[in-house]
Parts: sequence; structure tokens; C-alpha cells
Amino acid sequence: MALVRLEGIGKIFAAGVPDEPGVEVLREIDLSIAAGEFVSLQGTSGSGKSTLLHLIGLLDRPTSGRYLFDGMDISGLDDDGLSGLRNQRIGFIFQSFHLISYATALENVLLPGMYSQTPQAKLRQRAMELLDQVGLADRVDFKPGKLSGGQQQRVAMARALLNQPDLILADEPTGQLDSTTSREIMKLFHEVHRAGTAIVLVTHDEEIAAAAQRVVRLSDGRMAEEVKEHPDA
Ligand SMILES: Nc1ncnc2c1ncn2[C@@H]1O[C@H](COP(=O)(O)OP(=O)(O)OP(=O)(O)O)[C@@H](O)[C@H]1O
Ligand SMILES: [Mg+2]
Repeated sequence: MALVRLEGIGKIFAAGVPDEPGVEVLREIDLSIAAGEFVSLQGTSGSGKSTLLHLIGLLDRPTSGRYLFDGMDISGLDDDGLSGLRNQRIGFIFQSFHLISYATALENVLLPGMYSQTPQAKLRQRAMELLDQVGLADRVDFKPGKLSGGQQQRVAMARALLNQPDLILADEPTGQLDSTTSREIMKLFHEVHRAGTAIVLVTHDEEIAAAAQRVVRLSDGRMAEEVKEHPDA
């Protein structure tokens, strides 16, 4: 069974002005993502990549079509149901990190644990391990303002992994980084993938996209192209 199954998904944003037609941003998207699969999402600016990522991440609902997450039709869930599912199963990494500026690296990583059943001490231990894995053991008490861009991105990555999600969604996680730092971040993505986590990664960078098992290209809100199975991914 697919982890993510989108069937004829469409998204129309309401216009800000009454009587104006809405903006159709996604049309007839059919996409399945298997457990553990690494997919990259490409397309020109405005093609709908972030919108699709938000839908997959249960941050927003489609206007039409059906979305099955691990076999469950999400239209049957209310907002609390959606956020519960999201918190337990999905980790997000955004381009601008979305870290809390007054909290330390460790506190930022611990945020998704707020609603977790796992005891605090155990979460803390896991957060420390994750920060160590991303090479920030000596920066746990630093606030984001005192970290480099690549370090902030690694904190965001550790945070996304805290609840051991089945799916990581990343929106241009290397967009603001130099090529050496990008490569380091990509290495971490490969490790996460190897550990069995599915990943959907939005990127403009061809080289980074080619690292995925499958490239899905959006054009004007539609799925334009799919390139499958790079042998060395
Ligand atoms: N809340 C909204 N209301 C109306 N239109 C929106 C809204 N959010 C996005 N759009 C429109 O949807 C289209 C797709 O936006 P989206 O952010 O998904 O593009 P993208 O592919 O991520 O682009 P980029 O590469 O620049 O990040 C754009 O034309 C945008 O103006
Ligand atoms: Mg975007």
C-alpha cells in the first residue's frame, strides 16, 4: 500500500475579492509515494510545488480529489485529526528553517515532542542524539541567530526527525546554502532515506533532484513528467 496516494487532486485558492474566480493552482494530480521512497519535486516558480507539499503534509486540504495517507482517507478527519496525524507521521523542513529565534537548538528540536506520549527524558536524549548526528553536539545551547545557515538547516532537520516520522517533506532545504553545505545536507537526506524514511524534496537544483529515486515535474499545476529509478539513488 502506498504511504501517500493522491487521486485527481485539485486546489483552488479563493480570490481575495468577492465574485472573482478563484485561482486554480493544482489540477488532476495523481501521485503515489511508497513507504521509504525518495521523490524529488521540480517545476518552475509558481508551478505549485509548495502548495502540493502543503497538501501532502496535511497543512491544507485539497479542493477536489482524494488523498489517502497510509490507506486512510483524510477527508474523514477534522483539523485536530489532521494535526495529530501530521505530528506523529510527518516531518517538515522549510527553506527558511522556521526555527524559533528565542529557543536554543535543543529546544527547537524538542518542539514536535510537545504532544508526544514519549517521556520528556527520552525525547531529550533522542534530541541530543539527533543533534549529534547532524554534527551539532557542541551547539545544542546556541540560539538560531548564533548559528550559520547550514547549521540552522541541520537543526531543522533534527527537529523534523524527532518523532521518527514515516515521511519527511522538504521545501528547497538547500536553496539558501552554498554548494559544499548543500552537499552535506544532502548526505543527511540520504542517511534518512537509508534508514527507511520516505522523502519528498522540492528543489530547483538538477543535481540534487537527480539524487532521488524518482523525479516528478510540475508544470502550471499539472504533473508534467516523471523520471523513474535512478540506479544509484
Ligand atoms: N494562499 C494563496 N492564495 C492564492 N494564490 C496562491 C496562494 N498560495 C499560492 N498561490 C498561487 O499558487 C501558485 C503556486 O504557488 P506555489 O507556492 O505552490 O509555487 P511554487 O512552485 O512553490 O513556486 P516557488 O518555486 O516560487 O516556490 C502561485 O501562482 C501562487 O500565486
Ligand atoms: Mg515554493
